[in-house]
Amino acid sequence: MNAQIIYYSKYGSTKEIAHSIQEKLGAEHICDVRDLSDISADLLIIGSSIYKETSHKEILHLLKDNDRLKDKAVALFVVCLSRKLVKTPTRDVGGPVYLRQLEEALGRESIATQIFGGRMIPAEMEEEERIDTEINCKKRGMPFGDIDLINEQEVDEFVSIIKSGLKR
Ligand SMILES: Cc1cc2nc3c(=O)[nH]c(=O)nc-3n(C[C@H](O)[C@H](O)[C@H](O)COP(=O)(O)O)c2cc1C
Repeated sequence: MNAQIIYYSKYGSTKEIAHSIQEKLGAEHICDVRDLSDISADLLIIGSSIYKETSHKEILHLLKDNDRLKDKAVALFVVCLSRKLVKTPTRDVGGPVYLRQLEEALGRESIATQIFGGRMIPAEMEEEERIDTEINCKKRGMPFGDIDLINEQEVDEFVSIIKSGLKR
């Protein structure tokens, strides 16, 4: 299929999910947004892992680039650990908020969206980040340790929504 997957991944879980989407969709092109040169397909699947409640700035920058994305069908995804909406006294956080940020950057309808569960393995993290994350988890009463929420069924669902969106 003439489709291109563009993602941001730091520790590899978003890259893994992006490659699974590529395989299941039969997309021709895939790259990390930091290596993006040409946009060569009419269907783009664009996604980011979430760090500190936000998608990577280069993904947001790309979605706001109306000239580059003109006439392209776009599907959006995020990869995170807080998949559900969480209301805090100061603001809402969680998957739906992260996805809305991408939708707002795109500024028009996407053909499909998905909130994927990601993965966190403290032993693989940069030391400073691991210490920070441990402190944050303790503060919020969240468990700190290996977490793997990657679920192939979510990829299947997303790919099938993309395919049905194309038929419309
Ligand atoms: C420093 C740090 C900050 C994170 N911040 C969030 C966050 O704000 N919300 C969330 O749901 N997940 C958060 N995560 C979890 C990541 O989104 C998750 O581990 C994701 O799978 C990482 O993707 P990657 O392996 O492609 O880099 C954070 C992880 C780290 C290490």
